[in-house]
Amino acid sequence: MSITLRSPLDMHLHLRDAQMLTIVAPLSASSFSGAIIMPNLIPPVSSKEDVLAYKKRIMDSIGDSSFTPYMTLFFKPTYTRDFLESVQDEITAIKLYPAGITTNSEGGVSGFEIDDLRETLDAMSDLGIPLCIHGETGGFVMDREAEFVPIYEKLATNFPKLKIIMEHITTSASVDALDKFDNLYATITLHHLIITLDDVAGGMLQPHLFCKPIAKRPEDREALLRVALSAHPRVMFGSDSAPHPKESKEAPGCAAGVFTAPIALQRLAQLFEENNTSFDNLQKFVSDNAQEIYGITPIEKTVTLSKKEFTVPDNYDGVVPMSAGEKISYTIDSIS
Ligand code: NCD
Ligand code: ZN
Repeated sequence: MSITLRSPLDMHLHLRDAQMLTIVAPLSASSFSGAIIMPNLIPPVSSKEDVLAYKKRIMDSIGDSSFTPYMTLFFKPTYTRDFLESVQDEITAIKLYPAGITTNSEGGVSGFEIDDLRETLDAMSDLGIPLCIHGETGGFVMDREAEFVPIYEKLATNFPKLKIIMEHITTSASVDALDKFDNLYATITLHHLIITLDDVAGGMLQPHLFCKPIAKRPEDREALLRVALSAHPRVMFGSDSAPHPKESKEAPGCAAGVFTAPIALQRLAQLFEENNTSFDNLQKFVSDNAQEIYGITPIEKTVTLSKKEFTVPDNYDGVVPMSAGEKISYTIDSIS
């Protein structure tokens, strides 16, 4: 059996910088047509110069692969309309992090008073720049995302023309919010469709499955599966592939992030098959919905996968992927 995916897109990707960039960027660039590139570098990507320079470093690291890095800025409530107008042609979205909530987010937003955000969000809304949000509060770790839902709803109500993307949703509460507001969208990762907290910490601790938001309960995973497998039109695949050096993962103070980019399409094919779901829906989940939501036309790329066992490498130049050493039932056969 084989499947052909047309122009796969990863709508939430961490490519990092320097040596890590040179390891991970070619892996995404070979099998995806494009990806939304997260801006949480140190320091964060927050000026036009930063965007252009980072984009160049990405292009330099992928050689002659055809791949579009859809660039983002790190949200600051001080961005003015003039600034946004000057940068809008270089970016596809702006990513908002609550301050300190995850890796490299210290410069994020410390409150969600509408009046403090209004100038920037009105301008983004008028200019048609989508807002991607890492939606977690500072509360108890399992409740952070559900506690953030009222903030999503407040933003969606106050800025009805702003496209708001709830990034890497992990709870049934976020799935429920999707259908309450026409301007709310979501990305879902591969790992949150597969694991629950039990896989992370139910037995021996699995640092390579530790990420923000933390994987939740079986019923949450079921809710995510329901909208991903049915290719809900406001849901897109975003891997949140977040590589860290092995020493930072296999350590006390393990860094948050699961590295999935090089296995994502193969494992998604297996997941859709295991759930007896049409590959037409996989096509929508990994590309068509995102094209519609973001209004983008990706580079044409055809990825053919076949039902042949693929053993996930133990590491990619020292960076450990999810499911390292395990077998996946689909392999990428050809990319053209
Ligand atoms: C991400 C990272 O490492 O940059 N980590 C993660 O656990 N997902 C940041 C993020 O998306 O939260
Ligand atoms: Zn992320």
